[in-house]
Amino acid sequence: MSVPAQTPVRFAPPVIGPDEIAEVVAALESGWLSTGPRVKQFETAFAAYSGAPHAVALNSCTAALHLALLAFEIGGGDEVVTSPLTFCATANVAIHAGATPIFADVDPDTWNLAPEAAAAAVTSRTRALIPVHFGGRAVDVAAFRAVADARRLVVIEDAAHAVEAVSAGRKIGSTADATCFSFYATKNLTTGEGGMLTTPSAQVATFVRTASQHGISRDGWARYREAGSPHYDVLFPGFKYNMMDLQAALGLHQLRGIPARTARRESVWRIYDEGLADLPLVRPAPVPAGDVHARHLYSVLVDPATGWERDALVAHLAQAGIATSVHFRVLHLHPYYRERYRLTRGMFPNAEHVSDQVISLPLGGGMPDDEAWRVVETLRRAIPVRTR
Ligand SMILES: Cc1ncc(COP(=O)(O)O)c(C=O)c1O
Repeated sequence: MSVPAQTPVRFAPPVIGPDEIAEVVAALESGWLSTGPRVKQFETAFAAYSGAPHAVALNSCTAALHLALLAFEIGGGDEVVTSPLTFCATANVAIHAGATPIFADVDPDTWNLAPEAAAAAVTSRTRALIPVHFGGRAVDVAAFRAVADARRLVVIEDAAHAVEAVSAGRKIGSTADATCFSFYATKNLTTGEGGMLTTPSAQVATFVRTASQHGISRDGWARYREAGSPHYDVLFPGFKYNMMDLQAALGLHQLRGIPARTARRESVWRIYDEGLADLPLVRPAPVPAGDVHARHLYSVLVDPATGWERDALVAHLAQAGIATSVHFRVLHLHPYYRERYRLTRGMFPNAEHVSDQVISLPLGGGMPDDEAWRVVETLRRAIPVRTR
């Protein structure tokens, strides 16, 4: 099917098929909309997929990150080390927990938090490392575990981009003390809004589950199903972070659709790799043997050798009907972080370099090849081929 030239190329539209729609309708007709049997099924299926002993479904990755910190009693006076090249939620949650986010620079090739930089940022107050699998590229899990073990730290992985990722043969979701996934609308697996926390610890899972439902002892489904007593106890002041069955209805089928969507992502990725190879753009680094890249973001750096400033190229592509995004403008230069923690340009030069030049190109699990070629052709018309 050919795409007329005027059809906009969307950035990352969700892929919702008849199975998702039928399951949502069934959930609507079941008479139970909130956390119930479909959430339970989704948690079981996701735990099996990720190789984690426990999975707790939540209403966002932000909620998962927040509750992970609380589960390990990280709070006032504590520090957590993370990447400045991430979405604000990764660091915001540390502040919500009462802790201080400490940034360390990324690796210049992978754009992931560099384990040695993270190690150098550790102090006597550090309690956790939060590496982020940027764009779906797995961090070196073993290296972070070594840093954490040497200093008795917790590892919480921000796997918002990395449902399908593998690090040195180990499935992301099964490697950290807690791993936090996002099912936001643009993510590789979407429930509209949503998230999942996986953990090897039954104690952490129980805390997170209870904390996601106000800190009460029996959730609504248990009270309904078991009939009998309507009573519950408040064990501690929790949050309203639970996932609904309506969302899990989507998630169950999104999980089954991963192979087909991955095949599409891989195809678009190959077209970009091939079509942009001779342009003076920095493309995503190759993936090491033993790793699986989740292919969430195809981000390129717009070197001045292209003749373009990043934002001008974003505007040019938008005019051509091609939606792009910026992942990410470094957190330490956003007003709140800059002012509150007295952070300045020059502190994390590798992350700043990416922040200044990065564009994420359209990529989705249903994106046809001809849309990818259109992106390539538009870029090739705009940017002169590398001559050296
Ligand atoms: C790296 C990263 N971490 C965390 C989040 C937060 O995810 P959610 O929107 O599910 O809370 C996002 C969202 O885009 C993200 O990109």
